[in-house]
Amino acid sequence: LIKGRERMAVDLKSEPLAPQCGVTIHDIRLAEAEGETLDAIRRAVFEHGVAVFRDQALSPEEHIELAKRWGGIDINNYFPLTDAHPEIAVVRKAAGQETNIGGAWHTDHSYDQVPAMGSILVARTLPPKGGDTLFAHMGAAYDALDEDTKREIEGLEAFHTADHVYKEGGIYAQTDIGGELRGQDLTTGATHPVVVRHPSTGRKLLYVNPSFTVTIAGRSRADSLPLLEKLFAEARNPQHHARVVWEPGTVTIWDNRTTWHNALNDYHGHAREMHRITLTGEKLAA
Ligand code: OGA
Ligand code: MN
Repeated sequence: LIKGRERMAVDLKSEPLAPQCGVTIHDIRLAEAEGETLDAIRRAVFEHGVAVFRDQALSPEEHIELAKRWGGIDINNYFPLTDAHPEIAVVRKAAGQETNIGGAWHTDHSYDQVPAMGSILVARTLPPKGGDTLFAHMGAAYDALDEDTKREIEGLEAFHTADHVYKEGGIYAQTDIGGELRGQDLTTGATHPVVVRHPSTGRKLLYVNPSFTVTIAGRSRADSLPLLEKLFAEARNPQHHARVVWEPGTVTIWDNRTTWHNALNDYHGHAREMHRITLTGEKLAA
């Protein structure tokens, strides 16, 4: 029986960003979104993986309040924070820097036992051109696997860690952004099903990613790679992707269970700065 709350569901004015992934939502002021409207936005993010909102003029305080209304904030352990707003992680590339944050396909925080639900990313400084963010829909990627592969991964789990990325001597430490990152002494690791059910939509999603998923549980790295690479290859198929082209005032909200993302590093010589608040998630299950 559907009771009043759902029957009164708000109709959002929206259009797809790409055939399989993403949605643009119009006529919403996120600073004021709450109640039924926020529920409708949540459903759109869970289904499409990422929602784009234009012309938001969202202040840092409004950004934080929106995340709190959404359901809670996870503080990122690695990115620089500001003293004024420790809830906000600063995703910055200076004009003179080479390496960017998030410049490879990944899912934020998949190395946590209870991975973050998603993020609210606000554009603060944009390069004149480039700096788009790609998203991949992991429900579409799962659906596109052949039946043999679906059977092969049924019931498997995978191990995720960020140690090779953020630790002393890790991937970022060897680049020109290493010095700005925190948490080099942290150790992370979590095991999740290779295929999870979205906690809200129930859709089956491929939950492995090339940045943080290092092994199939119980297998060596070498024995894990062929299967992981096969799964990654399907998710890399542009059929499942969407591209967010940022403009001043653009805000995106994405779901880390439904998507991968990849920040393109194609604007050398220009600065780019984004403000990210990471949204609390829940334990994942097959
Ligand atoms: C992130 C990230 C993407 C971007 O904040 O998690 O990957 O486009 N950023 O900056
Ligand atoms: Mn990211």
